[in-house]
Amino acid sequence: MPWKDPAGKFSWLKAAVFVFALYPALWLVGRWFVGDLGARPLTEAIHRSGDWSVRFLVFALAVTPARAVLDFPRVLLLRRMLGVAAALYAGLHLLLYVADQKWNLWAVGSEIVLRFYLTVGFVTLLGLAALAWTSTDGWQKRLRARWKKLHRWAYGLTALALFHYALQAKINAVDAIFWFGLFAWLMLWRGLPRGHQGRLGSLVAMTVAAGVLTAVVEVGWYGLATNVPVGRVLQANLGFDPAVRPASQVMVLGLVVAGLAALRRMRRRRPSVA
Ligand code: HEM
Repeated sequence: MPWKDPAGKFSWLKAAVFVFALYPALWLVGRWFVGDLGARPLTEAIHRSGDWSVRFLVFALAVTPARAVLDFPRVLLLRRMLGVAAALYAGLHLLLYVADQKWNLWAVGSEIVLRFYLTVGFVTLLGLAALAWTSTDGWQKRLRARWKKLHRWAYGLTALALFHYALQAKINAVDAIFWFGLFAWLMLWRGLPRGHQGRLGSLVAMTVAAGVLTAVVEVGWYGLATNVPVGRVLQANLGFDPAVRPASQVMVLGLVVAGLAALRRMRRRRPSVA
């Protein structure tokens, strides 16, 4: 049961995250039935389910840093649920796409072969399905050391999902680049030496690096994939009002995490008054 911990006891944390994972699907179904998904409801639902798949992937990758940085081991209970939610939203995303193609599987297959962004999405979906399928305790025991290696694919699959996201976004890739920025933060965190993964100075420096990388990717993306002048994107990142740029959003979030880590360390160091 998704709301029970490994000892079989009810877990409020797992139950709350289970409800959170279900909410976008219930929201979509509700809006669908009241006819509140805009002029092209299927297209809207395809976009929303894709969004949530990427979000749950990034949330699943954030579990290990959350445990280490915030010193909160129980968060590990959530990783499998978040990963499976990502795969299920990706499955729903494909199903909605098939419905949009009037259930013509031949058309779906040829579109996937002919359109590069769909091929990338399809490969990602296959990988996510393999990870979700083997996420059970039984598979973990069966595969032993190979299980960890297999589940490290989650990083590469998230990169592919983000690539699909940006490719389909065409001229406005801001959201895809924001989620790329968070992914870059998580990858840089993994690259820090263990002793630095919870240190304020290292987290701040890494956050600045993630922000710069996000800005560079944004400039590069618009430079290579669109006709938007690179100078204008640079100006937007370096100007006085960078609040809406993905790079600055990533930096703000990273600094909040660094601040929380510092608070946590201070509380741990404070001598107890007995
Ligand atoms: C066979 C697999 C897939 C197909 C056929 C597919 C198809 C599509 C289509 C048709 C769109 C909308 C494009 C447009 O309106 O121009 C889209 C957008 C998107 N897809 Fe996929 N996709 C697949 C796999 C995935 C996977 C595995 C993920 C994530 C893990 C994903 C995430 C997204 C996201 C985030 C968007 C953009 C949503 C937005 O703009 O808000 N897709 N996909």
